[in-house]
Amino acid sequence: MQPNGNDDVQRVRDASDIVRVVGEHIELKARGREYLGICPFHDDKKPSMYVVPNKQIYHCFSCGAGGDIFTFVQDFHKMTFREALKFLADRAGVKLESRGRRRTANDDAESVSRSVLLEANELAERFFKSILRHAEHGQSARELIERRGISQEMVDAFNIGAAPDMWDGLRKFLESKQHNLEPFLNLGLLKASDKGQGPYDAQRNRLVFPIRDQIGRVVAFGGRRINDEDEPKYINSSESPVFDKSATLFGLDLANRAIQKEGVAVIAEGYTDVIACHQAGITNVVATLGTALTPKHATLLQRLCHTVVLLFDGDEAGQKAADRAAEVFLTLPIDAKIATLAGHTDAKDPDELLKREGGSGVLKAALDDATELLEYRIERLRARLTNAGAAQTERALRDEFRDLGRLGLASADKVRWQFIIRRLSELSGLNIDTVAELVREGANRRQGPDFSGAEAEPQKRKHRTSTAEILGCLLAMPERWIGLESNEALLEAACRGTELWPLFEVMKELAHSTGRTDLNATVDQLRQRDANHRFAVELEQDISRRHSESADQLNETLAFCLRNLQQHSTTVEAKPAGSTADRLEQIKAQKEAHGPNTRLLPRIRPVSGSQGPNS
Ligand code: CTP
Ligand code: MN
Repeated sequence: MQPNGNDDVQRVRDASDIVRVVGEHIELKARGREYLGICPFHDDKKPSMYVVPNKQIYHCFSCGAGGDIFTFVQDFHKMTFREALKFLADRAGVKLESRGRRRTANDDAESVSRSVLLEANELAERFFKSILRHAEHGQSARELIERRGISQEMVDAFNIGAAPDMWDGLRKFLESKQHNLEPFLNLGLLKASDKGQGPYDAQRNRLVFPIRDQIGRVVAFGGRRINDEDEPKYINSSESPVFDKSATLFGLDLANRAIQKEGVAVIAEGYTDVIACHQAGITNVVATLGTALTPKHATLLQRLCHTVVLLFDGDEAGQKAADRAAEVFLTLPIDAKIATLAGHTDAKDPDELLKREGGSGVLKAALDDATELLEYRIERLRARLTNAGAAQTERALRDEFRDLGRLGLASADKVRWQFIIRRLSELSGLNIDTVAELVREGANRRQGPDFSGAEAEPQKRKHRTSTAEILGCLLAMPERWIGLESNEALLEAACRGTELWPLFEVMKELAHSTGRTDLNATVDQLRQRDANHRFAVELEQDISRRHSESADQLNETLAFCLRNLQQHSTTVEAKPAGSTADRLEQIKAQKEAHGPNTRLLPRIRPVSGSQGPNS
């Protein structure tokens, strides 16, 4: 068999480094020869995902997610395999040879419809861009760009476009190219007319800002009016399978790197503020799409940085947002700060400020001056209480702490809880025990899931059969298959008809053609057959970690499991096949020996200094 039906996969893998690829999406910390981060595939606060550079795989020991770079990108961005391959190839500068759009059974209807919508957005983006350059139809938009002082560099970086002052600009363009209009209707770029005249353009005479996801795919558009008398000021794409407004941050694709580098994300209020900040060289700035920050936004950012600065135009918006932000940030391992322009400038927003002489210095000062969310709340409380007596102050503090409890502070993890309680005690002058008690009181009044203090139990490892352990050992020691000899036939018989069969088949073919059962090659082959490759990674990682990668111990387990297999096969074969009842007995015995009976497995001696999750 050809080691790789498609060597694009191999070339892209060779040109990519899994630590960098994963590290661009979540924060990783070196841990020995490996890297550890918070798994993005389940709800967690503690790092449980390993990235293993020498095997080019990742694996979460808590939820079991695992795979190679392609799996990671596919699962993280909800891409098809083909999209992930293209994304990683572009990123690594590899030119793909097989251009074929091979859709596999893994590309389910949902992901196909997502990619249709993304392609439609790409097309619309090209249309809006060409309008901006159009001598006549782009003129008023270009004038607005000029008036707003947006540089050509930013026009290019943000791919700003324009919608013509017509009811059927986009529609005619699509029709002339014989495009199906359906996806454009789903995206809200075209609207169905109720007068039976066919669909019309939703964006008319507007400056158009493409809204991208973290990796730069256009998921929606925001169109700003060019004429002040048009309403509303902005028209945004409708929500769709590719656009979840409450989980999207404008500018994140461009700010991604700076946010990770600085460990801080700044969240502004508007599209134009983000553009102005980037133009001024402050590049860790994003914006919500005219809504409050949601837990989904916070989760997205939590993977990239430790601090979020909410930048508000005025004091009032800041105060309202601080109230809401508490709900989002108290329980997540990310610090939130509030910065307001009021007090630093009379400019109404960052965009206006940055147009002034020395504006960027003032903005930076406002950002540096940002106040921790909790401190902001307590300070505000104190400001209200300047003339209050002791009793009133005490009551207000009590209410505030109970509020924080009600908002979820009490379910923060232990370290965060202690940190926050200590901080609140410093800020309020009350002792730690009192603060903790008040917060807990608030938590008890909270509706819905109650404060338990306990963290979610990591999922228990599934019981593995002895046969599965053999395959795991052989993945962990890719050169060992060749020594199997007569055991191969026994293994084959044990795997046939079970969920292990595709894995066995692939490993056997690889061993026979290349002499080895390398994990990456196995994963590739399974993927090509639309078989479950994640299981192979999980199995290999589980075995490797339990044995702390010690070859002696792996060999010991392998030998034990093989003996088990042999003994069992001989007892079954020794008996002549008799009645159906006898046969059923035999099958039952076989199942028992190979089934989920952990007593059959050897005990593993812990290796000192091992860092494995199960040690
Ligand atoms: N917004 C919206 N729909 C509106 C008004 C506002 O979606 N009708 C969202 C946009 O994301 C906008 C943000 O709210 O960027 C902030 O609104 P605003 O401050 O009014 O707009 P700016 O971005 O500051 O635009 P401009 O500077 O052109 O006034
Ligand atoms: Mn503005």
